[in-house]
Amino acid sequence: MDKAAGETQGEGSARFGFISLSGAAIVVLISNIIYAIRYQGETNACTNRFMMFRRKRAQKRGERIMLLFINACVRENSRSRRLADHLLARREGPIEEVRLHEIAFPVADESFLERRDRLIEEGRFDDPMFDLARQFAKADEVVIAAPLWDLSFPASLKQYFEQINVTGVTFRYSPEGVPEGLCRAKRLTYVTTAGGNWLPKEFGFGYVEAMARGFYGIGDVKMISAAGLDIDGADVEAILKGAEDAMDQAER
Ligand SMILES: Cc1cc2nc3c(=O)[nH]c(=O)nc-3n(C[C@H](O)[C@H](O)[C@H](O)COP(=O)(O)O)c2cc1C
Repeated sequence: MDKAAGETQGEGSARFGFISLSGAAIVVLISNIIYAIRYQGETNACTNRFMMFRRKRAQKRGERIMLLFINACVRENSRSRRLADHLLARREGPIEEVRLHEIAFPVADESFLERRDRLIEEGRFDDPMFDLARQFAKADEVVIAAPLWDLSFPASLKQYFEQINVTGVTFRYSPEGVPEGLCRAKRLTYVTTAGGNWLPKEFGFGYVEAMARGFYGIGDVKMISAAGLDIDGADVEAILKGAEDAMDQAER
């Protein structure tokens, strides 16, 4: 009799536990919906909140949150790099930097492609050839800094994309031939500066955004930019400071 009562009590508290758990999940869901409505279109605030949650969860589990900084700047006093540094100073946790100008990218000739296809087919993703791809796939957040070069970005960044676009690591194709992202990151920020005041998006940020959303499955993609830096008489310091202030405002 006692045992039966105990069992009933046990079931009751299990049920109660389940109800309170579902209640907590509903409260979290509603608060996130309210947040999303409040910040319509401003995915930054939602992503910040998500990143905070992920960081706390990772801390509890003793895991590391990793920000990947892809640095395509070549000049010692790079203005793009300065803006990226300002952004990175706002982030917590370890940063892994990839300096593209220090990498001797392999020539993507036929033998390279054949070897790569064979490794992918055999599922040998631990090959050093895929180190950059694996690093990108496991990053929690990505920041890319690249100056505007010839309406686009330095060629090293395109070489980098060619290295990390590995089916089975950073993306895969659905049976219908549509790419699906396999990357952990939810947010990618593209930081750039331009000498002139014409900064069309198509060939620089537009390309990066298409890769991030279409291939890697990264939904929150933003550009931070400063233009007109090489125009005669430009107040470079004021332009850069303006971009940094805008960054602070957007991230608040
Ligand atoms: C190879 C090269 C190509 C460039 N192409 C452009 C361009 O197409 N449009 C433009 O507005 N500025 C162009 N610039 C100027 C740079 O975008 C500008 O100086 C930028 O701020 C440099 O960034 P950094 O200080 O991070 O190196 C070019 C500069 C270089 C060196």
